[in-house]
Amino acid sequence: MIVFKRLVRLAKPHTAKLLLAMFFMLIVGGLTSVLAFLVKPALDDIFVERNASMLQWIPLAIIAIYLVKGVCTYAQSIIMNWIGQRIVTDLRNHLYNQIQRQSLSFFTKNPTGVLMSRITFDVNYIQGAVSEAITSLMKDSFTILCLVFVVFWRDWKLAIIAMVVFPLTVYPISRFGRKIRKAVTGAQITMGSLTSLLQETITGARIVKAFCMEAYENKRFAKESENLLKLFMKAVSVNALSSPLMEFLGGIGIAVIIFYGGWQVIHGTSTPGTFFSFLAALIMLYEPIKRLTATNNQIQQGISAAERVFAIVDAVPEIRNRPDAVELPNITKGIDIQDVTFRYEEDTVLRNINLSIRAGETLALVGMSGGGKTTLVNLIPRFYDVSEGSILIDGRDIREATIESLRGQIGIVTQQTILFNDTVRNNIAYGNQKASEEDLIAAARAANAHDFISKLPNGYDTLIGEQGMKLSGGERQRISIARAILKDAPILILDEATSSLDTEAEIEVQEALENLMKGRTTLVIAHRLSTIRNADRIIVLVNGAIIEEGNHETLLERQGEYRRLYNMQFREG
Ligand SMILES: Nc1ncnc2c1ncn2[C@@H]1O[C@H](COP(=O)(O)OP(=O)(O)OP(=O)(O)O)[C@@H](O)[C@H]1O
Ligand SMILES: [Mg+2]
Repeated sequence: MIVFKRLVRLAKPHTAKLLLAMFFMLIVGGLTSVLAFLVKPALDDIFVERNASMLQWIPLAIIAIYLVKGVCTYAQSIIMNWIGQRIVTDLRNHLYNQIQRQSLSFFTKNPTGVLMSRITFDVNYIQGAVSEAITSLMKDSFTILCLVFVVFWRDWKLAIIAMVVFPLTVYPISRFGRKIRKAVTGAQITMGSLTSLLQETITGARIVKAFCMEAYENKRFAKESENLLKLFMKAVSVNALSSPLMEFLGGIGIAVIIFYGGWQVIHGTSTPGTFFSFLAALIMLYEPIKRLTATNNQIQQGISAAERVFAIVDAVPEIRNRPDAVELPNITKGIDIQDVTFRYEEDTVLRNINLSIRAGETLALVGMSGGGKTTLVNLIPRFYDVSEGSILIDGRDIREATIESLRGQIGIVTQQTILFNDTVRNNIAYGNQKASEEDLIAAARAANAHDFISKLPNGYDTLIGEQGMKLSGGERQRISIARAILKDAPILILDEATSSLDTEAEIEVQEALENLMKGRTTLVIAHRLSTIRNADRIIVLVNGAIIEEGNHETLLERQGEYRRLYNMQFREG
């Protein structure tokens, strides 16, 4: 019930509006029972007594009642939906902010589709629970209360009989609620994996086609779809049964009551007006009670969705600012990697790394694929925190600094080029939106990107498509280099920054990068050894450990791993 309390707390800021809506609901509920109440004078005075003045008043009263009831229903519905949508909009934004705060490991653990379905489907279920369920909870319960009053007022003995028969319907309702909740939870989880699958295969369409895996993917999708169908049908079959079952039980109740009430009228102990007013109120009870049971289901759905949403909202980012975090001044002395060991999960990926990088130095990392180069450079901006040991910048542990001040001084070109479906300009200015047009173009020029950008249909305002699909791999890479250049950060991390460029383009970009590296502390990762020849120092990383260190010439002389890598490339190239 903690989840339920949290949902209620979300509604708290809207108490005033909620009270207003409740006021309208009370009117609606009250007027409904007045209608039932009017059945008696309508029958006894107009039809039995043939009273002409009542013939004028009662129809007029009925018109007036429906008019007021309609207006109030409209007003409360608008207010309640506003509250529901408001709460859900805030919750959605909050959820998104929470997701943005998470560390990279969170995104490794939670597939994209699942996160997407939290924000889209689950949040909507909550909206249903909040606006529709709360409305029905208040409006219908009050209507029920008023109608029960009419029922008792008209004939308390009959009412008692009815009250014995109808609660029998309550038992199945609570049972159904639980079943539906279980089925729906399953369906929502499956929906998440379906979205994941969709997202993956649509963005990966090229690979699917290249490997002729369409049929395989179709099968995979169909399987998940089938799963979903089964789970939905489970929810539906429970849901569908609850209404006819209740109707049937209600029918039995009404039959009993007609028998007893009719017997009373025939024997003269009651009037037809009293009986029909009673019956009208009883029948009118059916709708709100039915809605309340549906509400129960809706609340169950909302709660199970809320549980999943809150689980994400409550996830504490692994990497966050310490309460006493300080601003990290721009690097002046250097980076010290001290006894660093790192594991993603169990496997140790980096082992006792010790490395000092002077400010302004260019350090290159080479070594076999999977050796841990990307992992090592990812530790510097704290994409992950070290498992053991520490990383210091100018003698201060980076975990003591604010994440913003740390990442603010690091420019990165990642191994996988990540671009957004936006204009070239916005992709380059990402992270430095205040940059002037001249700086932007200068950065693009330095990255050897200005020429091809100028040839695009709308130049810098061209939309590049999802993940930069409309550009070639090398063009994408040059844009991401321009983005790092524009950031103008004192620490530069280049992870295979020029790997997608041909030798000609690479030479040009290399020049630009070398200009850029001047005066900056740079970590370069490259497979092509030609690109790192001029580095001040080269580190060879194999299986998570540094096995060689030196500059190009000394390492070549050593006849070790570096020599081996060099010979291999020399022979191939
Ligand atoms: N997010 C992750 N979760 C778990 N293991 C990971 C993760 N990322 C990388 N690894 C593992 O860590 C090891 C080192 O990977 P890393 O990406 O650092 O290698 P690399 O030296 O950059 O290789 P490459 O030259 O191919 O880019 C690999 O064995 C890889 O399987
Ligand atoms: Mg790598």
